Amino acid sequence: MAFSSGLGAIDAVVKLLQPGDEVISTNDLYGGSYRLFRQVFEKMGIVFHFVDMRQLDVVKEKLNDKTRLLWVETPTNPMMQVIDIKKMAELTTGKDILLAVDNTFATPYLQRPLELGADIVMHSATKYLGGHSDVVVGALVVKEKELADRLYFIQNASGAVCGPMDSFLTLRGIKTLHVRMQRHCENGEKVARFLADHPAIEKVYWPGFEDHPSHAVATEQMDAYGG
Ligand SMILES: Cc1ncc(COP(=O)(O)O)c(C=O)c1O
Repeated sequence: MAFSSGLGAIDAVVKLLQPGDEVISTNDLYGGSYRLFRQVFEKMGIVFHFVDMRQLDVVKEKLNDKTRLLWVETPTNPMMQVIDIKKMAELTTGKDILLAVDNTFATPYLQRPLELGADIVMHSATKYLGGHSDVVVGALVVKEKELADRLYFIQNASGAVCGPMDSFLTLRGIKTLHVRMQRHCENGEKVARFLADHPAIEKVYWPGFEDHPSHAVATEQMDAYGG
């Protein structure tokens, strides 16, 4: 489903929930998602826990019978933390808990969360999918028809639909996603290695470095390390 923005897509997912329901998310999260969760949905009675999702035990500690959603962003914006999607899916599979992954930084070219056990994949297509800085679009991808119907109802009822011109521009962008992502990955690596050797730079966060704390997980679940 295409939405009028990435945030419009995230908004629709949280609207699946009821007051009293709990969400576990990462403590390094795109600021707009954090603002939406804390300043809009918390007032409506939804409870959010922000934890280091790289640590399974810390996530497990927050799980309880009110947990309805795990909101994972990986790699995270801005600190490039990488969260193990398969491990998160082990916590939600067979339970009344949805696993949603913000896949904006990776794109489907590098990472396909549905194959790793996620229920919902979210994209800010404003970035790599659109690819030309001329569109603001969001997307949700799900595999279950029943979940798709519920999200479609929310989208239609709330109105964050994707306009015809934006749809056209995004489809145009996606046609070149594969070549652009290859180059983004090459450029990202070059910049990361250049900065790592630069005397004025203290630290570079890039999951392609072997000493990055999530290098192994990134290598396992992504096809390359992104831009
Ligand atoms: C990781 C991530 N998720 C979601 C969004 C929100 O998307 P949009 O700007 O299309 O509303 C952004 C935007 O910066 C983002 O970086």
